[in-house]
Amino acid sequence: MKEKIQQILSELENLKCKSQKEVEEARVRFLGKKGEVTALFEEFREMGKELKKEYGRSLNELKQNAQAKIDALKSEVGEEAGADGPKQDLTMPGDPFDLGSRHPVSIVRQEIVDIFRKFGYDVAEGPEVEDDYHVFEALNFPPNHPARDMQDTFFVSAGHPNPLLLRTHTSSVQVRAMEKMNLPIRVICPGRVFRNEAISARAHCIFHQVEGLYIDEDVTFADLKQAILLFAREMFGADSEIRMRPSYFPFTEPSAEVDVSCNICHGKGCNICKGTGWLEIMGCGMVDPNVLEASGIDSHKYSGFAFGMGLERIAMLKWRVNDLRHYFENDMRFLKEFNTSIEV
Ligand code: PHE
Repeated sequence: MKEKIQQILSELENLKCKSQKEVEEARVRFLGKKGEVTALFEEFREMGKELKKEYGRSLNELKQNAQAKIDALKSEVGEEAGADGPKQDLTMPGDPFDLGSRHPVSIVRQEIVDIFRKFGYDVAEGPEVEDDYHVFEALNFPPNHPARDMQDTFFVSAGHPNPLLLRTHTSSVQVRAMEKMNLPIRVICPGRVFRNEAISARAHCIFHQVEGLYIDEDVTFADLKQAILLFAREMFGADSEIRMRPSYFPFTEPSAEVDVSCNICHGKGCNICKGTGWLEIMGCGMVDPNVLEASGIDSHKYSGFAFGMGLERIAMLKWRVNDLRHYFENDMRFLKEFNTSIEV
Protein backbone atom coordinates (compact mmCIF):
# COMPACT_ATOMS: atom_id res chain seq x y z
CA MET A 1 0.00 0.00 0.00
CA LYS A 2 2.71 2.41 1.00
CA GLU A 3 4.66 2.00 -2.23
CA LYS A 4 1.51 2.27 -4.29
CA ILE A 5 0.62 5.58 -2.64
CA GLN A 6 4.15 6.88 -3.25
CA GLN A 7 4.02 5.79 -6.86
CA ILE A 8 0.69 7.51 -7.56
CA LEU A 9 1.92 10.66 -5.83
CA SER A 10 4.98 10.90 -8.06
CA GLU A 11 2.94 10.11 -11.15
CA LEU A 12 0.55 12.92 -10.22
CA GLU A 13 3.46 15.25 -9.74
CA ASN A 14 4.78 14.63 -13.24
CA LEU A 15 1.37 14.57 -14.87
CA LYS A 16 1.01 16.86 -17.87
CA CYS A 17 -2.04 17.38 -20.07
CA LYS A 18 -2.44 19.20 -23.34
CA SER A 19 -6.19 19.27 -23.61
CA GLN A 20 -9.34 19.05 -21.54
CA LYS A 21 -9.78 15.59 -23.00
CA GLU A 22 -6.47 14.45 -21.49
CA VAL A 23 -7.38 16.00 -18.16
CA GLU A 24 -10.63 14.05 -18.17
CA GLU A 25 -8.75 10.84 -19.00
CA ALA A 26 -6.38 11.47 -16.10
CA ARG A 27 -9.33 12.07 -13.79
CA VAL A 28 -10.90 8.78 -14.80
CA ARG A 29 -7.56 7.00 -14.41
CA PHE A 30 -7.03 8.17 -10.83
CA LEU A 31 -10.38 9.16 -9.41
CA GLY A 32 -12.94 7.43 -11.65
CA LYS A 33 -15.05 4.51 -10.40
CA LYS A 34 -12.36 2.08 -11.45
CA GLY A 35 -9.51 4.52 -10.92
CA GLU A 36 -6.26 3.78 -9.10
CA VAL A 37 -7.02 5.92 -6.06
CA THR A 38 -10.53 4.53 -5.83
CA ALA A 39 -9.07 0.99 -5.92
CA LEU A 40 -6.82 1.79 -2.97
CA PHE A 41 -9.85 2.95 -0.99
CA GLU A 42 -11.51 -0.37 -1.72
CA GLU A 43 -8.43 -2.21 -0.49
CA PHE A 44 -8.46 0.00 2.61
CA ARG A 45 -12.02 -1.00 3.44
CA GLU A 46 -10.92 -4.62 3.82
CA MET A 47 -8.00 -3.79 6.15
CA GLY A 48 -7.79 -4.47 9.86
CA LYS A 49 -8.10 -1.74 12.45
CA GLU A 50 -4.35 -1.24 12.92
CA LEU A 51 -3.60 -0.90 9.21
CA LYS A 52 -6.55 1.44 8.75
CA LYS A 53 -4.96 3.70 11.36
CA GLU A 54 -1.68 3.61 9.49
CA TYR A 55 -2.99 4.43 6.03
CA GLY A 56 -6.20 6.40 6.59
CA ARG A 57 -4.60 9.81 6.65
CA SER A 58 -2.16 9.32 3.75
CA LEU A 59 -4.92 7.88 1.57
CA ASN A 60 -7.11 10.89 2.21
CA GLU A 61 -4.21 13.18 1.43
CA LEU A 62 -3.60 11.29 -1.78
CA LYS A 63 -7.19 11.76 -2.86
CA GLN A 64 -7.10 15.50 -2.13
CA ASN A 65 -3.80 15.78 -3.89
CA ALA A 66 -5.16 14.05 -7.00
CA GLN A 67 -8.29 16.26 -7.05
CA ALA A 68 -6.22 19.43 -6.65
CA LYS A 69 -3.88 18.39 -9.44
CA ILE A 70 -6.79 17.63 -11.80
CA ASP A 71 -8.41 20.99 -10.97
CA ALA A 72 -5.12 22.80 -11.56
CA LEU A 73 -4.61 21.07 -14.90
CA LYS A 74 -8.17 21.88 -15.92
CA SER A 75 -7.72 25.59 -15.50
CA GLU A 76 -4.15 25.51 -16.84
CA VAL A 77 -5.24 23.93 -20.10
CA GLY A 78 -8.03 26.50 -20.41
CA GLU A 79 -11.50 26.12 -21.78
CA GLU A 80 -10.95 26.71 -25.44
CA ALA A 81 -7.37 25.77 -26.20
CA GLY A 82 -7.81 22.00 -25.95
CA ALA A 83 -6.87 19.52 -28.64
CA ASP A 84 -10.49 19.50 -29.79
CA GLY A 85 -10.08 23.14 -30.77
CA PRO A 86 -11.83 26.16 -29.28
CA LYS A 87 -15.27 25.49 -27.84
CA GLN A 88 -16.41 29.05 -28.53
CA ASP A 89 -16.88 30.70 -31.86
CA LEU A 90 -14.27 33.43 -31.76
CA THR A 91 -15.59 34.99 -34.93
CA MET A 92 -18.86 35.96 -33.23
CA PRO A 93 -19.31 39.69 -32.74
CA GLY A 94 -18.80 40.88 -29.14
CA ASP A 95 -21.61 41.88 -26.80
CA PRO A 96 -22.43 45.55 -27.39
CA PHE A 97 -21.34 47.60 -24.43
CA ASP A 98 -23.48 50.61 -23.57
CA LEU A 99 -21.41 53.70 -22.91
CA GLY A 100 -23.30 56.13 -20.73
CA SER A 101 -23.63 59.79 -21.60
CA ARG A 102 -23.86 62.91 -19.49
CA HIS A 103 -27.26 63.66 -18.06
CA PRO A 104 -28.96 66.70 -19.63
CA VAL A 105 -29.15 68.38 -16.20
CA SER A 106 -25.37 67.93 -15.79
CA ILE A 107 -24.78 69.32 -19.27
CA VAL A 108 -26.83 72.45 -18.54
CA ARG A 109 -25.26 72.84 -15.10
CA GLN A 110 -21.78 72.71 -16.62
CA GLU A 111 -22.73 75.22 -19.28
CA ILE A 112 -24.08 77.67 -16.69
CA VAL A 113 -21.05 77.18 -14.43
CA ASP A 114 -18.70 77.80 -17.39
CA ILE A 115 -20.50 81.04 -18.31
CA PHE A 116 -20.33 82.43 -14.77
CA ARG A 117 -16.73 81.30 -14.34
CA LYS A 118 -15.92 83.46 -17.35
CA PHE A 119 -17.55 86.37 -15.51
CA GLY A 120 -15.24 85.71 -12.55
CA TYR A 121 -17.60 83.79 -10.24
CA ASP A 122 -16.34 81.01 -7.94
CA VAL A 123 -18.34 77.83 -7.43
CA ALA A 124 -19.51 77.08 -3.87
CA GLU A 125 -21.25 73.96 -2.61
CA GLY A 126 -22.97 73.20 0.67
CA PRO A 127 -24.91 70.50 2.50
CA GLU A 128 -28.21 69.14 1.20
CA VAL A 129 -29.35 68.45 4.77
CA GLU A 130 -29.37 71.96 6.17
CA ASP A 131 -30.67 73.75 9.21
CA ASP A 132 -33.59 76.13 9.34
CA TYR A 133 -31.25 79.03 10.03
CA HIS A 134 -29.35 78.78 6.71
CA VAL A 135 -32.38 77.96 4.58
CA PHE A 136 -34.86 80.43 6.08
CA GLU A 137 -33.96 82.52 9.06
CA ALA A 138 -30.72 84.10 7.78
CA LEU A 139 -32.58 84.81 4.54
CA ASN A 140 -35.14 87.04 6.21
CA PHE A 141 -38.07 84.65 6.07
CA PRO A 142 -40.62 85.89 8.60
CA PRO A 143 -41.35 83.23 11.24
CA ASN A 144 -44.67 82.22 9.70
CA HIS A 145 -43.74 82.50 6.05
CA PRO A 146 -45.53 79.78 4.05
CA ALA A 147 -42.23 78.52 2.57
CA ARG A 148 -41.37 77.19 6.02
CA ASP A 149 -44.60 75.30 6.13
CA MET A 150 -44.57 71.51 6.28
CA GLN A 151 -46.21 71.49 2.85
CA ASP A 152 -43.07 72.77 1.16
CA THR A 153 -40.27 71.47 3.29
CA PHE A 154 -39.06 67.99 4.13
CA PHE A 155 -38.02 68.14 7.75
CA VAL A 156 -35.35 65.73 8.94
CA SER A 157 -35.56 66.46 12.66
CA ALA A 158 -37.92 68.58 14.69
CA GLY A 159 -35.14 70.18 16.76
CA HIS A 160 -36.13 73.52 18.27
CA PRO A 161 -35.43 76.31 17.42
CA ASN A 162 -33.30 75.17 14.50
CA PRO A 163 -34.65 71.96 12.92
CA LEU A 164 -32.73 70.05 10.26
CA LEU A 165 -34.35 69.86 6.85
CA LEU A 166 -33.64 69.15 3.20
CA ARG A 167 -32.72 72.50 1.66
CA THR A 168 -35.49 73.97 -0.48
CA HIS A 169 -33.09 76.21 -2.40
CA THR A 170 -29.32 76.67 -2.68
CA SER A 171 -29.61 80.19 -1.23
CA SER A 172 -28.45 78.42 1.95
CA VAL A 173 -25.03 78.05 0.31
CA GLN A 174 -24.99 81.80 -0.32
CA VAL A 175 -25.50 82.37 3.40
CA ARG A 176 -22.56 80.06 4.12
CA ALA A 177 -20.50 81.96 1.53
CA MET A 178 -21.33 85.30 3.20
CA GLU A 179 -20.34 83.85 6.57
CA LYS A 180 -16.92 82.69 5.55
CA MET A 181 -15.72 84.38 2.34
CA ASN A 182 -13.89 87.67 2.18
CA LEU A 183 -15.56 90.58 0.42
CA PRO A 184 -16.15 91.18 -2.42
CA ILE A 185 -18.03 87.90 -2.98
CA ARG A 186 -18.87 86.50 -6.38
CA VAL A 187 -20.18 82.93 -6.19
CA ILE A 188 -22.56 80.57 -7.89
CA CYS A 189 -24.07 77.70 -6.01
CA PRO A 190 -25.20 74.73 -8.07
CA GLY A 191 -26.95 71.90 -6.28
CA ARG A 192 -29.86 69.62 -5.63
CA VAL A 193 -32.88 70.94 -3.75
CA PHE A 194 -36.02 69.35 -2.30
CA ARG A 195 -39.60 70.48 -1.95
CA ASN A 196 -42.61 68.56 -0.83
CA GLU A 197 -44.52 68.83 -4.10
CA ALA A 198 -46.73 66.37 -5.94
CA ILE A 199 -44.82 64.94 -8.89
CA SER A 200 -46.21 66.06 -12.25
CA ALA A 201 -45.03 67.09 -15.71
CA ARG A 202 -44.15 70.53 -14.33
CA ALA A 203 -43.03 69.84 -10.75
CA HIS A 204 -40.91 67.33 -8.87
CA CYS A 205 -39.94 66.93 -5.24
CA ILE A 206 -36.25 66.91 -6.22
CA PHE A 207 -34.73 69.34 -8.68
CA HIS A 208 -31.55 71.31 -9.27
CA GLN A 209 -30.71 74.97 -9.06
CA VAL A 210 -27.89 77.34 -9.76
CA GLU A 211 -28.05 80.41 -7.60
CA GLY A 212 -25.65 83.33 -7.78
CA LEU A 213 -24.53 86.08 -5.42
CA TYR A 214 -22.45 89.18 -5.96
CA ILE A 215 -21.60 91.52 -3.09
CA ASP A 216 -19.31 94.52 -3.29
CA GLU A 217 -19.39 98.25 -2.72
CA ASP A 218 -21.81 100.13 -4.98
CA VAL A 219 -23.44 97.13 -6.65
CA THR A 220 -26.65 98.34 -8.28
CA PHE A 221 -29.71 96.93 -9.99
CA ALA A 222 -28.13 97.94 -13.30
CA ASP A 223 -25.24 95.54 -12.58
CA LEU A 224 -27.75 92.77 -11.93
CA LYS A 225 -29.59 93.45 -15.15
CA GLN A 226 -26.38 93.52 -17.15
CA ALA A 227 -25.07 90.26 -15.62
CA ILE A 228 -28.31 88.48 -16.43
CA LEU A 229 -28.49 89.89 -19.94
CA LEU A 230 -24.94 88.68 -20.65
CA PHE A 231 -25.78 85.28 -19.20
CA ALA A 232 -28.96 84.99 -21.29
CA ARG A 233 -27.09 85.85 -24.46
CA GLU A 234 -24.39 83.25 -23.75
CA MET A 235 -26.95 80.63 -22.84
CA PHE A 236 -29.79 81.22 -25.30
CA GLY A 237 -28.15 83.03 -28.22
CA ALA A 238 -26.56 86.41 -28.93
CA ASP A 239 -29.82 88.01 -30.04
CA SER A 240 -31.67 87.18 -26.80
CA GLU A 241 -33.38 89.95 -24.86
CA ILE A 242 -34.53 89.90 -21.26
CA ARG A 243 -37.33 91.58 -19.37
CA MET A 244 -37.92 91.83 -15.66
CA ARG A 245 -41.24 91.67 -13.85
CA PRO A 246 -41.63 92.80 -10.24
CA SER A 247 -41.80 89.90 -7.82
CA TYR A 248 -41.29 89.05 -4.17
CA PHE A 249 -38.65 87.06 -2.30
CA PRO A 250 -38.02 87.60 1.41
CA PHE A 251 -34.26 87.85 0.86
CA THR A 252 -34.18 90.39 -1.97
CA GLU A 253 -35.59 93.91 -2.28
CA PRO A 254 -36.52 94.84 -4.94
CA SER A 255 -37.14 91.41 -6.47
CA ALA A 256 -37.90 90.38 -10.03
CA GLU A 257 -38.71 87.43 -12.26
CA VAL A 258 -36.65 87.32 -15.43
CA ASP A 259 -38.01 86.31 -18.82
CA VAL A 260 -35.86 85.67 -21.86
CA SER A 261 -37.16 86.28 -25.37
CA CYS A 262 -38.44 83.04 -26.89
CA ASN A 263 -35.68 81.70 -29.08
CA ILE A 264 -38.07 79.47 -30.97
CA CYS A 265 -40.52 82.01 -32.39
CA HIS A 266 -38.35 85.10 -31.75
CA GLY A 267 -41.18 86.97 -30.13
CA LYS A 268 -43.93 86.11 -32.58
CA GLY A 269 -45.63 83.76 -30.14
CA CYS A 270 -45.61 79.94 -30.22
CA ASN A 271 -46.88 77.11 -28.08
CA ILE A 272 -43.61 76.90 -26.09
CA CYS A 273 -43.90 80.52 -24.90
CA LYS A 274 -47.70 80.18 -24.88
CA GLY A 275 -48.04 82.97 -27.41
CA THR A 276 -46.30 85.57 -25.24
CA GLY A 277 -42.87 85.62 -26.91
CA TRP A 278 -41.22 85.31 -23.47
CA LEU A 279 -39.97 82.41 -21.32
CA GLU A 280 -39.54 82.68 -17.57
CA ILE A 281 -36.02 81.63 -16.52
CA MET A 282 -35.19 82.84 -13.02
CA GLY A 283 -35.84 84.92 -9.93
CA CYS A 284 -33.49 87.66 -8.78
CA GLY A 285 -33.13 90.86 -6.81
CA MET A 286 -30.96 93.11 -4.68
CA VAL A 287 -29.90 91.35 -1.47
CA ASP A 288 -32.06 92.62 1.38
CA PRO A 289 -29.97 94.60 3.93
CA ASN A 290 -31.36 92.32 6.68
CA VAL A 291 -29.72 89.36 4.94
CA LEU A 292 -26.36 91.12 4.72
CA GLU A 293 -26.52 92.14 8.38
CA ALA A 294 -27.53 88.63 9.51
CA SER A 295 -24.24 87.36 8.07
CA GLY A 296 -22.20 90.19 9.55
CA ILE A 297 -21.85 92.35 6.43
CA ASP A 298 -22.17 96.12 6.81
CA SER A 299 -25.21 96.95 4.67
CA HIS A 300 -24.33 100.67 4.62
CA LYS A 301 -21.04 99.96 2.93
CA TYR A 302 -21.91 96.92 0.81
CA SER A 303 -24.75 95.95 -1.49
CA GLY A 304 -25.28 93.02 -3.76
CA PHE A 305 -27.54 91.06 -6.02
CA ALA A 306 -28.67 87.45 -6.10
CA PHE A 307 -30.39 85.27 -8.64
CA GLY A 308 -31.55 81.69 -8.84
CA MET A 309 -32.75 79.38 -11.57
CA GLY A 310 -34.00 75.81 -11.90
CA LEU A 311 -31.79 73.62 -14.07
CA GLU A 312 -34.55 71.28 -15.19
CA ARG A 313 -36.51 74.29 -16.39
CA ILE A 314 -33.56 75.73 -18.34
CA ALA A 315 -32.90 72.28 -19.86
CA MET A 316 -36.60 71.98 -20.78
CA LEU A 317 -36.48 75.31 -22.58
CA LYS A 318 -33.20 74.50 -24.27
CA TRP A 319 -34.25 71.10 -25.55
CA ARG A 320 -38.00 71.55 -25.57
CA VAL A 321 -38.65 68.68 -23.21
CA ASN A 322 -42.30 68.74 -22.22
CA ASP A 323 -42.29 66.56 -19.11
CA LEU A 324 -39.99 67.10 -16.15
CA ARG A 325 -40.31 63.48 -15.05
CA HIS A 326 -38.12 62.33 -17.95
CA TYR A 327 -35.11 63.76 -16.12
CA PHE A 328 -35.58 61.39 -13.20
CA GLU A 329 -36.55 58.16 -14.91
CA ASN A 330 -33.13 57.57 -16.48
CA ASP A 331 -34.54 55.87 -19.54
CA MET A 332 -31.54 55.32 -21.80
CA ARG A 333 -33.58 56.18 -24.89
CA PHE A 334 -34.22 59.65 -23.46
CA LEU A 335 -30.72 60.20 -22.08
CA LYS A 336 -29.06 59.19 -25.34
CA GLU A 337 -30.69 62.09 -27.14
CA PHE A 338 -28.29 64.40 -25.30
CA ASN A 339 -25.15 62.52 -26.30
CA THR A 340 -24.10 65.25 -28.62
CA SER A 341 -24.73 68.87 -27.96
CA ILE A 342 -28.03 69.87 -29.52
CA GLU A 343 -28.24 73.35 -30.91
CA VAL A 344 -31.13 75.47 -29.73
N1 PHE B 1 -34.14 81.09 -3.89
C1 PHE B 1 -35.15 81.42 -4.87
C2 PHE B 1 -35.95 80.15 -5.16
O1 PHE B 1 -35.52 79.09 -4.84
C3 PHE B 1 -34.57 81.95 -6.14
C4 PHE B 1 -33.90 83.26 -5.97
C5 PHE B 1 -32.57 83.34 -5.68
C6 PHE B 1 -34.63 84.43 -6.10
C7 PHE B 1 -31.95 84.55 -5.49
C8 PHE B 1 -34.02 85.64 -5.93
C9 PHE B 1 -32.69 85.71 -5.64
O2 PHE B 1 -37.02 80.21 -5.71
